[in-house]
Amino acid sequence: MSNSLQHLAIIMDGNGRWAAALGKDRSFGHKKGADNMKNLAIKASELDIKVLTLYAFSTENWKRSEKEVNYLMKLPGLFFDVYLKEIMKANIRVEFIGFIDKLPASTRKVVKNAVESTKMNTGMLLNLAVNYGSQQEIVQAVKDYTSDVIEGKRENDLEVADFSNYLMTKEHSHVDLLIRTSGEFRLSNFLLWQISYAELFFTDTLFPDFTPDLLEEAVLAYSSRDRRFGGAK
Ligand code: FPP
Repeated sequence: MSNSLQHLAIIMDGNGRWAAALGKDRSFGHKKGADNMKNLAIKASELDIKVLTLYAFSTENWKRSEKEVNYLMKLPGLFFDVYLKEIMKANIRVEFIGFIDKLPASTRKVVKNAVESTKMNTGMLLNLAVNYGSQQEIVQAVKDYTSDVIEGKRENDLEVADFSNYLMTKEHSHVDLLIRTSGEFRLSNFLLWQISYAELFFTDTLFPDFTPDLLEEAVLAYSSRDRRFGGAK
């Protein structure tokens, strides 16, 4: 049996341990992770995946050292300086989810430019989650829904399908496959609503070592999963 894979999400974990194993600074691991991110995005678009959502920075990651947070905030700029050309060539459109307004001005500028530069691309959507937290997203969605009802913009008749429209992921909310690297078995506040029926794939490989070939293997494993969405065999 072969499942269609429209929306792939990845928790890119293990950059720090990857760098430590080489006696290098954590930033070195994040830089390698970002390089790999580009390789995986190109591969995913070749595999005809429609949406790739990557967890780049969570609402909880502010707890890291100032040095590491500063580097992670600079990374989108370094990434698009080097890779925008290749992303354009692959016809990939870039969007962001997360509380972008809380990012430093320089990072917000990079976000805006990346979205603007790629908005006419018609290929895969690369959705980068930066300052993203799923519980916070759901609370925000409830607030937005409530305001719409109070302001008379809609009836108080919320349905499951409808609620997705209040999330940051909007029309591409439903995740088919979630991959987490680095041998951790956690969801870490990532797309909790959107993964309701996702297949989960955990690998011990640290993110910088999770090559496009390994991605293809994970996608192959997914294609033979028996997805029943709560139905019977
Ligand atoms: C988790 O590994 C990784 C992160 C918190 C950052 C991931 C970010 C990237 C791969 C690049 C982002 C780039 C752009 C352009 C948005 P960890 O540091 O928690 O690893 P550890 O568990 O081994 O310490």
